Amino acid sequence: MTQLTIAIAKGRLQPKALELLMRAGVELSRDATSSRRLAIEDESGRYRLIFVKPADVPVYVEHGIADCGIVGRDVLLESDPDLLQPLSLDIGACRIVVAARNGAPERQLGMLRLATKYPRIAARHFGARGVAIDLIELSGSVELASVLGLADCIVDLVETGKTLQENGLRILEVITELQARLVVNRASYQLKAEAISELIKSLEESMEASGSD
Ligand code: PRP
Repeated sequence: MTQLTIAIAKGRLQPKALELLMRAGVELSRDATSSRRLAIEDESGRYRLIFVKPADVPVYVEHGIADCGIVGRDVLLESDPDLLQPLSLDIGACRIVVAARNGAPERQLGMLRLATKYPRIAARHFGARGVAIDLIELSGSVELASVLGLADCIVDLVETGKTLQENGLRILEVITELQARLVVNRASYQLKAEAISELIKSLEESMEASGSD
């Protein structure tokens, strides 16, 4: 029997990814899904799941430690890994936006100071428009940079919009809409073709079934 290792982004995507995989036939007990173990096997032995930081999902899959991964497209746009992306998943819907403090002028003279945890996405976006930016790279709580004046604006992820709203920021521009993706290692796609196409098919079927509820 072929076993597939699937890397799952820890954090807000994790419960949704597990639920989707379970609907697609991955057999996980409640104990397994609520434990703090970073690697678990499903009951059939066909799947091993590993839980890693979102930015590390493409790293594990690219190196072939995991055959597949479930990760937000924000991570893929930022790191541009050499992976196959055969399926868009109906979880993790969000947007990457440019946002600024309410009342802040839309454009300052001189270089735009921009804080983000997505430096490549931000540089690409503003580079394509010929806007010079002074990039300040942060690793989280990016909204604060705008609130406290570290930056004129931010490029960040918005899911519900609550963080922006509660911190007095508004969206200036939507850069892109995103969902989570299934990513696959290139060699695994050949070597474990049958198991991977079965997984893709089950995921597609379970998304169709839940879409028609
Ligand atoms: C993300 C993002 C926003 C927030 C948006 O951060 O960077 O801060 O979620 O979500 P909302 O629109 O539903 O409010 P995350 O919670 O991943 O933590 P971080 O700030 O530490 O990166």
